[in-house]
Amino acid sequence: MLTIKNVTLNYAQELNGVESMPVVGWVIGSDNNNVEQMSWHMQISQDSAFNDIIFDSGTVASGQSQNITLNAIDLKNSTHYFLRVKISDNHGQHSDWSEHATFITGLPGAQWQAEFISAEGPQDNASSKGTLLRKDFTLPDDGAVASVIVHASALGLYKLYVNGKKVGKDELTPGWTSYQHHLLYQTYDLTNLLAAGDNTLAAIVGAGWYKGDMSFNRARNYYGDRTAFICQVVVNYQDGRQVMFGTDESWRGTDSPVLFSEIYDGETYDARREVSGWNTVDCDVAPWRAVDVVASDKSVLGAQGASTVQAIETLSPQALIVTPEGDRVIDFGQNLTGWVEFSVSGRAGDKVILRHFEVLDANGNVYLANLRTAKQRVEYTLSGAQTEVYHPHFTFQGFRYVHVEAWPGEIALENVKAVVVHSQMERTGEFSCSNPDLNQLHHNILWGLKGNFVDVPTDCPQRDERLGWTGDAQIFCRTASYLMQTRNFFAKWLTDLKYDQTPEGGVPHVVPDILTGWSENDRFLSQGTHSAAAWADAAVINPWTLYLMYGDKETLRNQYASMKGWIEFMRTHAVDNKWSYKLQFGDWVALDAKEGSYFGATPNDLTCMAYYSWSTLLFAKAAKALGNEEDYATYSALHGEIVKSFQQEFFTPAGRLAARTQTAHILALHFDLVPERFRARTVETLVELLAEHDGHLVTGFVGTPYFCHVLSENGRAKEAWQLLLKDDFPSWLYQVKAGATTIWEHWDGIKPDGSMWSPDMNSFNHYAYGAIGEWLYRGVAGIDADEEQPGFKHIRIQPVIGGELEWVNARYRSGYGDIAVSWEVKQREVVLRVTVPHNTTATVILPAECRLKDSANMNFNVLNNALQASVGSGEYRFEYSL
Ligand code: BGC
Repeated sequence: MLTIKNVTLNYAQELNGVESMPVVGWVIGSDNNNVEQMSWHMQISQDSAFNDIIFDSGTVASGQSQNITLNAIDLKNSTHYFLRVKISDNHGQHSDWSEHATFITGLPGAQWQAEFISAEGPQDNASSKGTLLRKDFTLPDDGAVASVIVHASALGLYKLYVNGKKVGKDELTPGWTSYQHHLLYQTYDLTNLLAAGDNTLAAIVGAGWYKGDMSFNRARNYYGDRTAFICQVVVNYQDGRQVMFGTDESWRGTDSPVLFSEIYDGETYDARREVSGWNTVDCDVAPWRAVDVVASDKSVLGAQGASTVQAIETLSPQALIVTPEGDRVIDFGQNLTGWVEFSVSGRAGDKVILRHFEVLDANGNVYLANLRTAKQRVEYTLSGAQTEVYHPHFTFQGFRYVHVEAWPGEIALENVKAVVVHSQMERTGEFSCSNPDLNQLHHNILWGLKGNFVDVPTDCPQRDERLGWTGDAQIFCRTASYLMQTRNFFAKWLTDLKYDQTPEGGVPHVVPDILTGWSENDRFLSQGTHSAAAWADAAVINPWTLYLMYGDKETLRNQYASMKGWIEFMRTHAVDNKWSYKLQFGDWVALDAKEGSYFGATPNDLTCMAYYSWSTLLFAKAAKALGNEEDYATYSALHGEIVKSFQQEFFTPAGRLAARTQTAHILALHFDLVPERFRARTVETLVELLAEHDGHLVTGFVGTPYFCHVLSENGRAKEAWQLLLKDDFPSWLYQVKAGATTIWEHWDGIKPDGSMWSPDMNSFNHYAYGAIGEWLYRGVAGIDADEEQPGFKHIRIQPVIGGELEWVNARYRSGYGDIAVSWEVKQREVVLRVTVPHNTTATVILPAECRLKDSANMNFNVLNNALQASVGSGEYRFEYSL
C-alpha cells in the first residue's frame, strides 16, 4: 500500500505564523522496494474537511517529494490553512489523501495597526525589572466568531497570557535577532482560550537581550533603553470579516514581582509583590498606570513560524551533596541549559537563593570562577502562600550543579527539577555502538547542541558571553544538522548574519552582532573588528550545508547576496589572492599555540587563503545550483586562481607544505589544495605530525573538525580510528573519561592533575569540538549526502569500519525518511544492514579489497578503487570479509 507519512511545511510539522507559502515535503510509505514517486496532487483549504478548496494543483507528473515551492497563492492573514497530498508511484499504486498539515498565516508588514507600548519610562534605562501590561476586551456571544489569532512581539522579552493562562509553549520570545533590522513575532491561536463576553489579554515584559547587560563588555541598552510590547489580535468571523485590535495607549501597566531579570545574572523575584488577578478579568486596575506608546519601526517585524525556544524536557536531581566547605549543592548529573523549577513552602519573606554552575573544583567545592562576571543567581522571596511554584522568566542558566545558598528548612529533592530549554527542533540523528565511551561522546555532542541552540547558536551558555560566534556555528553546523532538523534555526540566524554584514560584505564575529556596534554615537564601534577566516565563512558554509542536508534552495537564494558579499570582501582585501584583515583567530585555542596564547601555530595567511578558496568553491557551486551560470563561471575561475596561488605560496617544489602543523595539512587536504602529485606526501606528513604527539591531535577550532575525515578519506582509516579512540590528554575521550557530560571548550578544561584551565575562558559546554559528530555519522556510519542530488535524494553509504568496534547502529531521519546503517564485525566478517527511504536511491560503497559473500542480489562494480552498487529504496543486508 502506498501512503504518505509526515507532510512537512518549511520542514516542520506545524507552522504558526507564515507570511508566504512554505515549502512542502512528505515521507512516502510502501511495502514495495525501489519506490519512485511518479506524480503528486496537492490541495489547500481553509477548512480541515476540504470543503472549500482554495488551491488544487491537479496531478503533477513529478518525482519531487521535498522542497516543493508553490507560488502565487494569495494567503489571507491570520488564517488557518490545511494542506493535503496524494501521490502515485512507479509500481502503479495510488495513495489516499495524506493527513492534513496545517499552518496559520502571520500578519505581513503593513497590516500592523497595533503600537509598541511600554510600562517603563526613560528613567528605567538602567533597570532590568519586569513590567505588566493588560487590557480587557469583549467578544460577542452570538457564535459569529470563527477563530481568534494573536501576533505578538516585544522590544525585550515577553510572556503573553489570556484569561490567566499562558499563551503557547514558547519561552524567551521573541528570541534574539538583529532587532533593528529583523524582529520576529509569534503567532498563536487563541480561539480555545477565549470566552464569549469579557476576556483579558496580559503580558509580562523583561529586559532580555534587547536592553540587558550583554557581552563580556557588560554594556547594557545595546538595542534600546526601554522595553515595549506589541500584539495584534485578529478576530475572524464566520462570514469572513476580520476585526483587529491590539496594544495601544488604552492598555494599563504596572511593575511586576520580577524585580530584576538578566540573561547572564539570573532573576530576583518577590512573590509578595504579586498582583492579584493581574492577568484575569478579576483585577483592580485602579493602581495601574497609563502606558506610553513607543515609536519603533514596525516594518522590521517578521513571522517566526517554527523553531521557537521551548521547555523541552526536565531532569530530576541525582544527588544532594554537602561540599567539603559545607555548601549544599544539587547535582543534576548533566550539564544543561535552562532553569530550575521548584516548589517551596514557608513564611512570607523567606528566601530561596540558587547559584548555578558547571563543575566542582578539584576539592569538590563550588566553582564559579569560569562564569566570569555572570552571576547565574536566582533569588525568590516567598509570599507565604501554601505551596509556591516558581521558575525564572527572562533568563537561562548553564549548569549541572546548583548551590542552594538559601532555602526555608530542608530541601526535598522531589520539589526541584531542571528544565532544559532550547530551540524546538526535530531530533534526526541516532548513533550507538559497542564502545560505551563513544556513546558518551555522542551524548555529550548532542547535549552541547541542546545547551547552545537557544534561539541563536552560541559558543557557551553559562559565562558572560553566550554569543552567536560565527566560527563555532560554522564548525558545528554539519554535525548539528545530523543530530536535529536545523533548517529553520539556521535560516533565521543566517538572516541576521546577512543584516549584520558590513556594507563591504564583511561578516561580524558574532551574530547578532553586539560587538562591532551600529549605534550612531559609536559607543560600541571601538571594538571595530570583523571578518575572520573560518568565522566569517559561516556566511557561505552554513547555507551550503543546509543545501546539502535538506536540498534547501530557498535559504541559498535568501543568502546568495550575503554569500557573494563575503567572497567579494575577501577579494577586495586580497593581494595575489592572499587576503588579510585586522584580527584573525587562526586555529583558535590549538595546543600548538605559544605558552599563554590562544592562537595556534598555523599561520593566518594559510588559514585565510584556504578558507577563501573553500568558500569561493562552495559559492560557485551555489551559483550553479541556482542556475546562475555567469557567477558559476566567474567564481569557479576565481577559485582556480586561489588554488594556484595557495600552491605557489605554501608548497615547495618538492611538495613540502610550508607550515608544518597538523591543521595546515588538514586544511590543504580537506579543501583540495594539494596538487595531486603531492597528496601522498602531504598525508604522510600529517601522519608523521600525529606520531610526533604519540597519535594525539594538537589542533584547535579550525583543524579539529576535519582531522578524521582527511585521514579516512586518504587511506588512513586506521589512524583516524586511533585518533578518535585516544583517551588520554588531549583527546575527545579524555573528557569523557573525566566525566564530561557536554563538550569542553579546551582539550584540558580540567587538566590531568585536576587543576583547571585559566578561569578567564573555560567553558564546559562549548560545542565546537563536538564537530567530530560529523565523522560518526558520515564516516563511521557512512551516511553521506550527494551535492548533485542534495537533501539525501541520493545517498552515499560508505561506512569506515574499524576501531575494534563490534557493532554500530546509526539512523538519520532525512526529509525522505529514515536512512539506517548498522554494521557488525566478528573476526573480520562484516554484516552491513542498510535502509534506503522511498523515492531515493543510494550508492553502497565497500572497500575494493573486501570479499563479498552476500551482495543482496545487487551488482557491485569496481569504481574509484572501491566496490560500488546502486540501490533503490528498501532494506538490504550485505555480508563480506575484510
Ligand atoms: C568564544 C569562542 C569564539 C572565540 C573567538 C571565545 O570567547 O567562546 O568560542 O569563537 O571567542 O575568538
